Amino acid sequence: MVLILKKIYLFGNWKMNHGLSRTDNFFKEFNNRLVSNQLAGNALKQHLLELAFFPPYVSVLNALGEIASEYKDSIFVGAQNAHQEDQGAYTGEISIEMLKELGCKYVIIGHSERRHIFGETNPVISAKIEKCIEKDIIPVLCYGETLKEKEDGLTIKVIEEQLKSAVDNISTSDLNDKKIIFAYEPVWAIGTGLSATPLDAENICRTTRDILKDTKGSSMSRDQIILYGGSVKEGNAKDLINQENIDGALIGGASLKVDSFFGIINSCLGQD
Ligand code: 13P
Repeated sequence: MVLILKKIYLFGNWKMNHGLSRTDNFFKEFNNRLVSNQLAGNALKQHLLELAFFPPYVSVLNALGEIASEYKDSIFVGAQNAHQEDQGAYTGEISIEMLKELGCKYVIIGHSERRHIFGETNPVISAKIEKCIEKDIIPVLCYGETLKEKEDGLTIKVIEEQLKSAVDNISTSDLNDKKIIFAYEPVWAIGTGLSATPLDAENICRTTRDILKDTKGSSMSRDQIILYGGSVKEGNAKDLINQENIDGALIGGASLKVDSFFGIINSCLGQD
C-alpha cells in the first residue's frame, strides 16, 4: 500500500528538443505506458500527481492533442518563454495571449538559460510575470544562483533579489491563489549531473517561503507551489520531493525519454 502525503508536481522542460514527429512518438509511448501504470493513473485521477510538458513552441499543439481526455485536468502543456507585450514589432517573439489561445496552462519565465544566454534581466522577467497574471496563465518562475555566486556566499542575496523583483507588482492574494509556481533551479546544477542535496534544496525552498512572507505578507502554509530543478533523475527525485518545502520537480534531460520520466514518476510515487 502506497501512501501519498502531498500533491506532487513533475514538470518536463524539453528545451530545444523534440519537434513534431518526436513529440508524437513521445506521447504514443507515454500514453501506452500510462495505460499499464495503475499507480500513476490513479494518482493523476485523484489529483495527487500533476504532470506538465514544456515542448518547443512548434510542438505545443501536437503535445496538447495527444493528452488522453481522462487526464486533461491533471496533465498540462506549457511553453518555455513568452514576450511581455501583447503584440507588435517584436520579430521572433510569441505573446502570452497567443499561448493562452493555444491552450497552454503554464509558461516558464526567467529560466537561467533565458537569463544567461539571452540576457533577460530581473525587470524584464518581472514584466513577463505581471503579464501572465493579467492574462490568467500561470508562470513557472525560475530563479537560482550561479556557481560563482554560490562560492561567493551570495546565494540568498541573489535569490532574494530575483524573487522580490519578480513578485514586486503582484498582489498577495494572487500569490496565495497559486497564480505563480516557483522553481528553484541553481544554475550550477542544470544539465551537469550535480544536483543540490535534498537538504540544501529544502533550505532554499523554505527560505523562498520566508522571503515571500516577509516581502508580500503571503501565507507560509502550503499555498505556494515550489519546485526544485537541476539534474533531477530517478535516483534522486524521491529524496528531493520528500522534503517538506519541495512540491515537485522541473526536469530537463530526464523528461525527454518516456523511460526516464516514468522512472522519476514511479520513484516519487514510491514504486521503485
Ligand atoms: P536538467 O534536469 O537537465 O538538469 O535541466 C533542468 C532544467 O533546466 C529544467 O528547467
